[in-house]
Amino acid sequence: MAKYLVFGGSGFLGSRLIARLAKQDSNQIVVADVNRNPSFDKYENVSFQEIDFINKNSFAGEIAGYDYVYHLISTITPADGTKDAFRELEENVRPTLALLEEVKLHPGVRLIFLSSGGTVYGNKGSVPLSEELLPAPICNYGISKELIERYLFLYHHMYGLDYRILRLSNPYGTKARKNQKQGLIPIVMDCIMRGEPVTVFGNGRNVRDYIHVEDAISGVLKAAENGGSGGIYNIGFGKGHSILEIIDLIVKELGCEYPRLIFVPDRKCDVEYNVLDNSRMKAEFGWEPQICLEEGIRMMVNGIRNGGENG
Ligand SMILES: NC(=O)c1ccc[n+]([C@@H]2O[C@H](COP(=O)([O-])OP(=O)(O)OC[C@H]3O[C@@H](n4cnc5c(N)ncnc54)[C@H](O)[C@@H]3O)[C@@H](O)[C@H]2O)c1
Repeated sequence: MAKYLVFGGSGFLGSRLIARLAKQDSNQIVVADVNRNPSFDKYENVSFQEIDFINKNSFAGEIAGYDYVYHLISTITPADGTKDAFRELEENVRPTLALLEEVKLHPGVRLIFLSSGGTVYGNKGSVPLSEELLPAPICNYGISKELIERYLFLYHHMYGLDYRILRLSNPYGTKARKNQKQGLIPIVMDCIMRGEPVTVFGNGRNVRDYIHVEDAISGVLKAAENGGSGGIYNIGFGKGHSILEIIDLIVKELGCEYPRLIFVPDRKCDVEYNVLDNSRMKAEFGWEPQICLEEGIRMMVNGIRNGGENG
């Protein structure tokens, strides 16, 4: 039996994580989020605690008794630019420090932080990126992820805080979020299914590492709950695909006409190439992603056609 506290558990990744954790009856899970996710009502071992993370100055008394604390809250996305730099520090970094202040008092607790493999590395050429590289983010979101990572190292160094940093690439596999601003695959799929043109940043040849959300969550659980050497783990498929390739694959799977593309200039925050070297996950935990991109997109399309949101 293990006890879990999952900050941001109601969201895209959190809901998949909760579904996996809840399968084990003996687990006790508390979802701490500003939004309640009604899909959790079916689980007897999941409860909800309403919190507004950005206004938290202290987590005193809220961590005791847990084995794992997952931190999945982020209030901005990579595309939000620098206009929200102060907001980022205030809403994400400051409350995370308050959380670390409490977690450090509970030596049996492991903190798992969802970082961003897609942004912390910045522009590093066109070979898969390993955890050994020095971060050099070129967006505000990546800087705040790196900053939180550095505080985790510091709290580990000073107080022995037990942590895992999971640098996730680009997870896909759901159409669940409305007004989605993050995630090329669901955004493109939505546009094509509605018969709308697709906006392409740059020349469409920027390469990203897409991983199905179920593979991503398997990796998260492996790295979070096992021994291993600790620290940072990249969780990605380890293969790159350009925006134009993604559009081709979606069109092929939907069997529809090719959409009109509207090319707009690259955003300053867009790197040209981002593929994660996942060999550390493979070597330490025997983890390998199982769902290739073609199959993952097919699962999404079938899920939507069968009336569900997920696939
Ligand atoms: N989705 C991706 O492409 C991706 C890639 C790499 C890393 N990540 C990271 O993984 C984590 C989870 O991502 P996601 O895609 O599930 O995000 P999401 O937006 O779907 O979920 C985030 C959750 O946080 C909650 N939340 C937001 N503000 C809050 C607040 N003030 N107080 C309490 N709860 C609040 C939301 O209600 C939501 O349930 C984030 O830290 C994100 O940066 C995501």
